[in-house]
Amino acid sequence: MFAQKQQKEIETPKPAHPMCCFMGPSRVEKEAAGRSIAELVDNGMVVGLGTGTTVAYAIAHLGQRIIDDGLSIGGVPTSYQSLLLAVEHHVPIATLYEHAVLDLALDGADQIDTHLNVIKGGGGSHTREKIVASAARRFIIAVDSSKLAPHLRLPVPLEVMPFAYPVVMKELKKMRAGGMLRRSDGYRAFITDQGNFIVDADFGVVQDPEKLAKDLSTIPGVVEHGIFTNVSEVHVARADAKETCVEILKR
Ligand code: 5RP
Repeated sequence: MFAQKQQKEIETPKPAHPMCCFMGPSRVEKEAAGRSIAELVDNGMVVGLGTGTTVAYAIAHLGQRIIDDGLSIGGVPTSYQSLLLAVEHHVPIATLYEHAVLDLALDGADQIDTHLNVIKGGGGSHTREKIVASAARRFIIAVDSSKLAPHLRLPVPLEVMPFAYPVVMKELKKMRAGGMLRRSDGYRAFITDQGNFIVDADFGVVQDPEKLAKDLSTIPGVVEHGIFTNVSEVHVARADAKETCVEILKR
């Protein structure tokens, strides 16, 4: 069904993407969670490939399953970062033009509350991630244990058209939210894959994520916000010195 690399063309297993090699405290948990969601993928599926350090492990694991088990799949990347990673790991690229309905969307998250509402967009890719998640029958998230929280309280990433930036900031002020333009390297404006700005909007504790999501959707110039309320399943990895386990939370 999908073009597949011959095993002989890949003489050694692909090294993990450099992004996978950082030695943060949750590296082991990210890897376990990422591998766990990649195990949900069956032959013939078309899956969304989210963005970030956790889902990078899922993409790498899918690549390994393609080599080891002859898994035949297509992946729809949600960013240039994921596109390059998928290519590196020989995961065949698919598009929403060919597959407007996906079997699964695999992704990471920045924060998850007890009702499985999620804040995403730490990598600035939440617009494509939301489109891909909405196209999928099941939206599956992988996280390390640090991402769980009783309530959402991180700033909510907003992808904003540069033309509309001052107007959006005015609207946020009316909502009593602090809005901060995201910058790369301390001073350059962070630019998304769509050529837009990211504003991180601080609402404090988000008591009603669905309502805030609706309100943010009505601001002209906000292309997409980072609140996701349609998660099907979360794989949370926890590691201590002795063992690593993955718990599956379902809605
Ligand atoms: C990118 C995202 C990421 O999924 C989120 O930031 C989590 O990233 P990581 O797995 O690196 O912690 O929403 O826009």
